Amino acid sequence: MSGFSTEWLALREPFDHAARAGTAIDPGFLAALKRRVAPGDALTVVDLGCGTGANLREIAPRLGGRQRWRLVDNDERLLAALPQALAPWAAAQGLQVQTQPRAAVLVLQRSDGLHIEVERCQADLATGLDAVPLAGAQLVTASALLDLVSAPWLDALLLRCRDAGAAVWWPLNVDDRLVWTPGDADDALVHAHFQAHQQRDKGFGPALGGGAAMRAAAQLAGFGWKVIRAPGDWQIDGRRSAHDLAMLQAMVDGIATAATEQTPALTETIAQWQARKRAQAGHLQLRVGHAEVMGWPPERSQDGQPSAL
Ligand SMILES: C[S@@+](CC[C@H](N)C(=O)[O-])C[C@H]1O[C@@H](n2cnc3c(N)ncnc32)[C@H](O)[C@@H]1O
Repeated sequence: MSGFSTEWLALREPFDHAARAGTAIDPGFLAALKRRVAPGDALTVVDLGCGTGANLREIAPRLGGRQRWRLVDNDERLLAALPQALAPWAAAQGLQVQTQPRAAVLVLQRSDGLHIEVERCQADLATGLDAVPLAGAQLVTASALLDLVSAPWLDALLLRCRDAGAAVWWPLNVDDRLVWTPGDADDALVHAHFQAHQQRDKGFGPALGGGAAMRAAAQLAGFGWKVIRAPGDWQIDGRRSAHDLAMLQAMVDGIATAATEQTPALTETIAQWQARKRAQAGHLQLRVGHAEVMGWPPERSQDGQPSAL
């Protein structure tokens, strides 16, 4: 078990979706992916820390065509819940779902040629990154994962992606921006202790937290890759809906619990902050900063040099 419940992933998914809705896929990125797929073959995507498949739901329709997804998570409950989480989305997308006799493989297809083969793999990425099969993948993606990992783990993943020649697309990494409207005199204090908690070891060594996207982008640029780093923020508005209100309350409680665990001496101050936020929730707004990183190798000319684009 990883500590991420299906309820939490379902609560956050509409905010993830809205945060990503404004980002069009860079045509150069798409071209780089398709260039590496042999004619008639499927685009192979590896999704690390897949949860119940939100990242597939977000990007598979945008990628289009034939795709083969290898969905990796260490939490067997989330992997088991994945078909159920895909079913209503597939129906809304007009996709037919079939279960293949081959263990744990699902096929989703639509008459316009969108064809997605889904294989679930249970693996502990913290101890077993070397065992995750990246060979043959054109894309390695991971949504809301990078802020949990350490710098050495991220660097090792980046080297594996470079060696495999796989492009990367890593959305929804927190970047330490948290803005409440209206604000509270103790927001900055509570945030500082919450953000220190986000840098604790989540199984991968000391976590990068809000610095993850910036480090990934810098390392990819060091490879000479084309890199895009873009914001994709959650906008939570307690005035808008019951779902927003539930998300706001989960955020207030989650931030307060983490900050208190980080600094027990502030228990009373944080509890008062939490009580004020909860009392205001119906007219409170929260922006949670996230950054996404996309990177891909440059096109090579026939002499093996990066071509001038
Ligand atoms: C914040 S959730 C994101 C889930 C999903 N990508 C999404 O966008 O909804 C982080 C995911 O990473 C997975 N995870 C955490 N530590 C892991 C590990 N050591 N090995 C494999 N997966 C892990 C969790 O189980 C969880 O599904």
